[in-house]
Amino acid sequence: MEKHIFALQLSHLLGETFTREWIYEQIETPKQASLGDLAFPCFQLAKTFRKSPSDIAAELAPKIKHDVFSDAKSNGGYLNVFLNQSFVTDHTLKQVLTDPSLYGHHDFGDGKTIVLDMSAPNIAKPFSMGHLRSTVIGNAIANLAKKCGYETIKINYIGDYGTQFGKLLAAYNKWGDEQKIKANPLKQLTKIYVKFHEAASENPSLVEEGRDWFKKLEQQDPEALQLWKWFKEVSLEEFNKIYELLGISFDLTRGEAYYNNKMEPTFDLLKEKGLLEESEGAQVVRLDQENLPPCLIRKSNGTTIYATRDLTAAIDRFQSYQFDEALYVVGHEQTLHFQQVKRVLEKMGFSWAKNVKHIPFGMMLKDGKKMSTRQGKTILLEEVLKEAVQKASINIEEKSPSLKDKSEVAKQVGVGAVIFHDLKHDRRNDVEFSLDDMLTFEGNTAPYLQYAYVRASSLLTKGNFDHEVTSTELGDSLTWPLVKLIREYPYVVKESYANYDPSKIAKYLLDLAKAFNKYYAESKILESDNLNAKLTLVYAFTIVLKDGLALLGIETPEKM
Ligand code: ARG
Repeated sequence: MEKHIFALQLSHLLGETFTREWIYEQIETPKQASLGDLAFPCFQLAKTFRKSPSDIAAELAPKIKHDVFSDAKSNGGYLNVFLNQSFVTDHTLKQVLTDPSLYGHHDFGDGKTIVLDMSAPNIAKPFSMGHLRSTVIGNAIANLAKKCGYETIKINYIGDYGTQFGKLLAAYNKWGDEQKIKANPLKQLTKIYVKFHEAASENPSLVEEGRDWFKKLEQQDPEALQLWKWFKEVSLEEFNKIYELLGISFDLTRGEAYYNNKMEPTFDLLKEKGLLEESEGAQVVRLDQENLPPCLIRKSNGTTIYATRDLTAAIDRFQSYQFDEALYVVGHEQTLHFQQVKRVLEKMGFSWAKNVKHIPFGMMLKDGKKMSTRQGKTILLEEVLKEAVQKASINIEEKSPSLKDKSEVAKQVGVGAVIFHDLKHDRRNDVEFSLDDMLTFEGNTAPYLQYAYVRASSLLTKGNFDHEVTSTELGDSLTWPLVKLIREYPYVVKESYANYDPSKIAKYLLDLAKAFNKYYAESKILESDNLNAKLTLVYAFTIVLKDGLALLGIETPEKM
């Protein structure tokens, strides 16, 4: 708010040479808080007006006047303004209190629909770290979108089709053991899949067998179909355990196979638009103009592929939801695929194709290398989650053995730690997998945040916080850094959504909790005169912290 007011005043003072938007963009936060709360650099103005930047800042300073500012000063070519602390504090706290659940909310989404393609694990394979990333990042982006006024539709596009199932069926046909698979489906299926790859490297005829089985599946051969359905069922059961632990659900679980008998219209349209070309017996859409390799649509043996299903699914999603944006939260190794899909949709004449966006994220690496199922290099996520919960449980037993709902709290803490560990990194970066890091509860972690929340809540109870009393006279400036952060929350939400980047919220929450802990350590809150006003600030802190954690998909226990 104050940044807008500052920009508005400057634009009135500067006339038409500089637009308000440009001025707004220039405004910075001074490196040191003692220099002011906002700073406007006058170097560009100096060139235009042929005066020194300091002179310009000095001329402007006395003309900046508004209740929200207490002072304006020229300093080193910058015009620095100071916020009126009691005015801003009062305004901020009242905003939070008016409707706590709406604080940080925006309306710009205007009820438009965002479709998110997320999670999308592959059946008959373990749920990988990459799928965890897609699940938690997608979930956080969906929560942010809702907070900005959008409707969201979360779709789990299960990987339940493709040539790899031919290989799996061939493998099952050779070494499958029904009982073993029933006892531990994903492990056993992965095992025979890996075995198949090893054997195929010595014996190429196996590759052929795999292809034949896939062909059978495509032709709806009853045996192939029945096995495939069974693999799918047992896989989904396993995945659901993970979603349950994570506390994440979907509006629609629909796999690739759903589109199998819906692809003819896609072919027809591609043909009608003259986009399909033969290439070595296969059918492709050339993307030379776009500087991309051709997008393969149908293989020489007639089978369809990943891209064909994605094209069909996108068209189907637009028909069903008329989305404003379709986000695909998928690892950056699929960037080319999504560029091709988007370009082909554009060439097909769909104006909405411009709103199809790939939201890439980095890989989880093990010793600097990609983890691959084929080489059996994945880490079982369910085990990681359970280990985290177990560790939380031991901590609770040690520190608060008489806590109520111990197992529920352990779950919130353990799972929270794993989710936060992922979301605090900029999503685009690769992350080296470290179980130790994931299971740390100290430092920049969810348990640290949850603990700050619990500490603040207990202050409210001990100090008999009264919601009805509305004095916001805090009477000391130790509170200022915390107030300023609480005030920033709505902007952080907006920025975080604009960049589809939950790490902005994660980092903000760490700053927020640190500011609170510092305040808590420095001032004897419960002994202060204007206790209820101070507790109002503490209360506002709990609201924002809990809301921010919820955006990330992390729960907040009341006690721990
Ligand atoms: N199942 C795929 C994989 O694990 C990811 C699917 C992503 N979504 C999509 N619409 N292509 O690689």
